[in-house]
Amino acid sequence: MSFLTTSETGVPIQGPTTTLLYDDWYPALRTARLRPGKLATAMLLDIPLVLGRRSDGRVFALRDSCPHRGIPLSVGWFDGQHVTCKYHGWEFEPCSGQCARIPSLCSHDRLDATRILATAFPCEERDGYAWVFIPSPGSGRRSGDAERRTGQELRAGHELRAVPELAKFGPRFRSAFLAADLPCNVDHGIIGLMDPAHGPFVHQAWWWRTRGSIREKTKRFEPIPEGFRMSAHAPSGNSAPYKLLGVYGQPVETTIDFVLPNRRTEIIRCAEKWFSSLTTVTPVTASTCRIDVVAAWNVFYHVPLVKTIAKFFGAKFVRQDQVTMIQQAQGLRHNPSLMLIDDADKPAKWYFALKQARLEAARGATTKHPLEGPVELHWRS
Ligand code: FES
Ligand SMILES: [Fe+2]
Repeated sequence: MSFLTTSETGVPIQGPTTTLLYDDWYPALRTARLRPGKLATAMLLDIPLVLGRRSDGRVFALRDSCPHRGIPLSVGWFDGQHVTCKYHGWEFEPCSGQCARIPSLCSHDRLDATRILATAFPCEERDGYAWVFIPSPGSGRRSGDAERRTGQELRAGHELRAVPELAKFGPRFRSAFLAADLPCNVDHGIIGLMDPAHGPFVHQAWWWRTRGSIREKTKRFEPIPEGFRMSAHAPSGNSAPYKLLGVYGQPVETTIDFVLPNRRTEIIRCAEKWFSSLTTVTPVTASTCRIDVVAAWNVFYHVPLVKTIAKFFGAKFVRQDQVTMIQQAQGLRHNPSLMLIDDADKPAKWYFALKQARLEAARGATTKHPLEGPVELHWRS
């Protein structure tokens, strides 16, 4: 697993915080970390979580805090069925959070242990990630238990959004993932991700592109629900990885979508060959985030080295972003005023407008999409 460190010196850099978007799914960790009988911890939106996999294979996520006295449940025990608190031994069924046993109760006690609940979050496994649904604070309980959810909560109108998933176009593919912690808030992580103008400076390398190859680009964007799409087009002729795809001599189509709260998907298709990636920027806390990339492809399926090569390109690429954002975080500590300029920063403006619309819609306001229809943007990169 190629986790990269947050700061060169190991010192956490505290930058400005931002508003968080709740009622959505976020990737907590790679499920390869969920070993039988073991608990793992993660942090999402400032919420400490403990995750595991029941012996029947289901993954779960609980707030890492015992409802009795608040000790982290992660320091307790897990036998594949119940999580046992280390302090007084209360046992919890981890998908529902329901307390199954309180060892101190005796025959005189009237207390029904099963009415006590640890906070369980809906948790689903996709593409090797444990995705956790984080409801807005105070919005009531969302059971982590799928069966319970279909009854009571669906009737209450608490239908959850679909769990995000990487698009795949056939049963045979290779895949890879990587992650990097970023010492800035999720907004800076996201606008850094969608910013086209930093490419020739941050990512200049012999195998990618050089400053000298900067040229004028025209891109078409269109609105999609809670996001926008960079419409299918022939990819940049000056990018080496795209040239690799061109060997099939067929037109190459690329679609890049951004959708709230934090997801960028990129799909490249050329006849029956495809490459697909899902990049998310997840708020770990209100002032820090983590970038996760998972990709799958059937390009060069029979060439064994392609996975290693793709991982090398991807990791180096994300590392360049990470180093730049660590440097940026030094500057942001002093809360400077910032600029968004046309047209290269237009997608960043749309992101802020979409986020604002989601926050207002949650308060009951009627909102409109920042893109009224398809638009063309021009920049040099
Ligand atoms: S603190 Fe967990 S059982 Fe008492
Ligand atoms: Fe970048």
